[in-house]
Amino acid sequence: IGQSIYYEKSVPSTQKIAHRLAGEGAADGTVVIADEQTEGRGRLARVWYSPIHTGIWMSCILKPKIPISQTPQLTLLAAVAIVQAIEETTGISPSIKWPNDILINGRKAVGILTELQAEADSVHSVIIGTGINVNQSPEDFPAGIQQIATSLKIEKGSEVSRAVLVQAILRNLEQLYTAYLSSGFRPVKLLWESYAISLGKTVIARTLQGTITGKAIGINDEGVLLLETMNGSIEKIYSADIELPEK
Ligand code: BTN
Repeated sequence: IGQSIYYEKSVPSTQKIAHRLAGEGAADGTVVIADEQTEGRGRLARVWYSPIHTGIWMSCILKPKIPISQTPQLTLLAAVAIVQAIEETTGISPSIKWPNDILINGRKAVGILTELQAEADSVHSVIIGTGINVNQSPEDFPAGIQQIATSLKIEKGSEVSRAVLVQAILRNLEQLYTAYLSSGFRPVKLLWESYAISLGKTVIARTLQGTITGKAIGINDEGVLLLETMNGSIEKIYSADIELPEK
């Protein structure tokens, strides 16, 4: 991973470039990084604020031979790689909120957006976009997200080198992805569960189909969240925003 790195100062979205490169036959593990995004996007068509030099705005093209149903596993794999890299380079221990948010002291420092290029039932490319708030000060965030967003600098109390962090992420991604291709999802799942904050708690899942409240009892082997509802049934959550209880 990262054998080919496309670096640009300013782009609309690294995700967009990665989609184009994947369509043009880019190799497994190709990475696109920019210093600034002018049209950074998040999940559910939200805007991802990506000012110059303060964060890591990066998209990674993976071409695993897996069925489409298993692609959520790669979002979880990326989250583990990033949490470990943050721990190694800053000493901060973040936690993961299913499926893709990395939180520090309850505030979001990292978002992951996984998108697919598929041919019939099989995966052509998985594009994993990660946005990491590294050196923002509180006032650098738009007013609307100041209460819910944070950066590594805010949490650590000093600047963090983006270059060192990117290297650690790519190294961890490489290691986890290689292990995943040879031994499957199990080892990644165990690591992911060790960082997850919502497991064992009652959460509210807002899905496109409606809202489900239940106890988050784990993820299954596809990376899908399992909720045990009041009536004892187990619901599989493929895509949702998860709200955690107050404490
Ligand atoms: C989310 O939490 O909603 C996901 C945010 C993903 C942001 C990253 S930044 C790099 C890549 N390019 C984009 O336009 N989005 C992703």
